[in-house]
Amino acid sequence: MLEGKTVNLRIMEKEDLPLFVEWINNPEVLSEYNPPRQMSRTEAERHHEKGNSEEGEFIIEKKDGSKIGYICHFTLVHPAGKHLEIGYFLVPSERGKGYGTEALGIMVDYLFLSKDVMRIQVQTDVRNVVSQKVIEKVGFRREGTLRKNFFMRGEWVDACIYSILREEWKEPRILTKKVPAK
Ligand SMILES: CC(C)(COP(=O)(O)OP(=O)(O)OC[C@H]1O[C@@H](n2cnc3c(N)ncnc32)[C@H](O)[C@@H]1OP(=O)(O)O)[C@@H](O)C(=O)NCCC(=O)NCCS
Repeated sequence: MLEGKTVNLRIMEKEDLPLFVEWINNPEVLSEYNPPRQMSRTEAERHHEKGNSEEGEFIIEKKDGSKIGYICHFTLVHPAGKHLEIGYFLVPSERGKGYGTEALGIMVDYLFLSKDVMRIQVQTDVRNVVSQKVIEKVGFRREGTLRKNFFMRGEWVDACIYSILREEWKEPRILTKKVPAK
């Protein structure tokens, strides 16, 4: 469990899959800035059971244990290195309360504390100003625009790419160095 001040990130378990599938299939949860998905429970179970050391999936929980969102990290493999990327969403009723900023901050601390990576990146739809605000508040810098990067709802849309380097992060802001390495 990665513990923050108002939210915790808990590794996703098999028992979370029905709720996760409900969220993924709900365009309001994914929002207009993520491509709509159709995912069966079987597909989610298969993916979960297969496991993957290059990625991690977490449920964002409030302190009372209520499940309010999802955050993951995954690796984009390139011949000259690996790039760690983060994706996330909150259920609509829990947005705008600071939870997204805290969850992203926890994930950045966790990744720099537990993995030997130089940079972490996030890509987001150029129109997604709330997500960009969250990303910037956590200390990421905008690197540029990825033209026609996502295919969503019948059109190609531009994305902006942000990164935070280990030297910019410097030290954990929410977690402590006692976080379990994984
Ligand atoms: C993006 C998302 C995770 C942000 O989390 P959040 O908890 O809603 O954001 P926060 O409450 O931490 O807000 C961060 C900043 O954005 C601002 N903000 C939040 N909602 C806003 C809104 N609807 N309009 C304008 N600004 C808003 C906040 O005021 C805050 O800035 P401030 O500290 O200067 O006041 C969440 O809105 C979400 O799940 N959106 C849909 C899915 C999505 O876009 N995922 C990201 C894909 S890259």
